[in-house]
Amino acid sequence: MKISKEMTAAINDQIKAEYDSAYIYLGMSAWFESEGLSGMAHWMRKQYGEEIEHTEKFIKYLYERGARVIIPGVDKPKESYASALEVFQTAYKHEQYVTERIYKLVDQALAEKDYATQSMLKWYVDEQVEEESSAEAIVSKLECLGDSKQALYMLDKELGGR
Ligand SMILES: [Fe+2]
Ligand SMILES: [Fe+2]
Repeated sequence: MKISKEMTAAINDQIKAEYDSAYIYLGMSAWFESEGLSGMAHWMRKQYGEEIEHTEKFIKYLYERGARVIIPGVDKPKESYASALEVFQTAYKHEQYVTERIYKLVDQALAEKDYATQSMLKWYVDEQVEEESSAEAIVSKLECLGDSKQALYMLDKELGGR
């Protein structure tokens, strides 16, 4: 069965959203490097790589369905942040936004009775649970450590092990 024009357009939009996510994390990584927090920079760089994988998974899926992929332009990410806490809060909020987007895609696939796309999206639904939970866990840790520079550097070291 051929994938619909509407579903193809919605997945192409999501490809852009995943590239934007990748760039947001790459920007966060660059900011952490400039702050001397190389462990957090490393964590964000890994996150960037994951988002590129999400992009490629969608691209591969559209090819498999014989649909046209449009490679999008990417929005310029934010350059600087007030604190490590702000960075991870932003990342957490961003993942919640992406989850909403994935749910909308599922709604559309259900409405169109596009079972193949529903099945493909299941992976993203599960992935978003992980994405939200890992960002939220770091937000909680950063909230706990408050203004302690020493604790911040300990956490930086821990995140460098990702
Ligand atoms: Fe993603
Ligand atoms: Fe993500």
